[in-house]
Amino acid sequence: MSTTVPAIHQVMVRAQETRTAIPGFNIPYLPMMAPVVRALRDTRCFGLIMAARLEWEKFAAGGVEPVYETYQQTKDERFTRLHLDHVPVIDEDNLPVDYETILGGAAALGYDSIMVDGSRLPLTENIAATRRIVETAHKCGVAVEAELGAVMGHESGPMPPYEELFASGQGFTDPDEARRFVAETGVDWLSVAIGSVHGAISATARREKKLEARLSIERLDALRNATDAPLVLHGGTGIKKACVLEAVQHGIAKINVATAIRQPYEALMETAPQQALQAVYDATVAVVRDDLELMNSVDILNPGEASA
Ligand code: 13P
Repeated sequence: MSTTVPAIHQVMVRAQETRTAIPGFNIPYLPMMAPVVRALRDTRCFGLIMAARLEWEKFAAGGVEPVYETYQQTKDERFTRLHLDHVPVIDEDNLPVDYETILGGAAALGYDSIMVDGSRLPLTENIAATRRIVETAHKCGVAVEAELGAVMGHESGPMPPYEELFASGQGFTDPDEARRFVAETGVDWLSVAIGSVHGAISATARREKKLEARLSIERLDALRNATDAPLVLHGGTGIKKACVLEAVQHGIAKINVATAIRQPYEALMETAPQQALQAVYDATVAVVRDDLELMNSVDILNPGEASA
């Protein structure tokens, strides 16, 4: 395996060491990208611009190339990098995906980091799939995120009651499995299941307000002890604020946010497109400033100049 350390990986490691986090914003409609970049610049927050496969399958992100092209026209590399979110091996409708072609294409095109999601597979198959992607991506200097455990919510069927899920810890990432997974795959970042859920994406449920999730800091600590890999929190919209801030202090280095900026855009995109863009900007600023308290976190890119 190549020894190239992807540049964005070093920033993630620094985020974890200094107990801050990098927000990743999902772009299901390409016009949303410009106001997100502007909001990151105006709040002086370093963040990832992201799209997941489901965002071109079920929304309007277009695909790996349209997202990349739009990013080239929109980016501000003082504040942003490009990440390919969830490319599942088995998708939310239980269909197999040609994930190696999609992820290999993104790595060759110039995405800074990519995510292979083998979380619907048995452990050994998730390890094998992730390891193959790590080998391909690292040859291009691209960082890889993978998922272990079940961050639910994207499925079309109903979820079990949240409090039952949380109390049972069903689907939470197992620390021993995490240790083995990171060691055997060489993956850079690990998405963990510790209580958050994804915002619904099915056509019937995508407008619903998200439930207020909580996080198991106890499980997070066990995972942090099991592996040095920077940990990623999915389902970033609507988690109880105190839990998110505490999770960042306990090893979460990246937080994915989709629903919080998608729903305000969808509410206005057909009737008032300009206002819809403003709504994305306002929602992104609110997430950075109020929910995650990450204003001015761009210093993480130039630690020598940081005031702390
Ligand atoms: P939310 O829709 O809850 O913000 O989750 C986003 C996410 O995890 C994308 O990977």
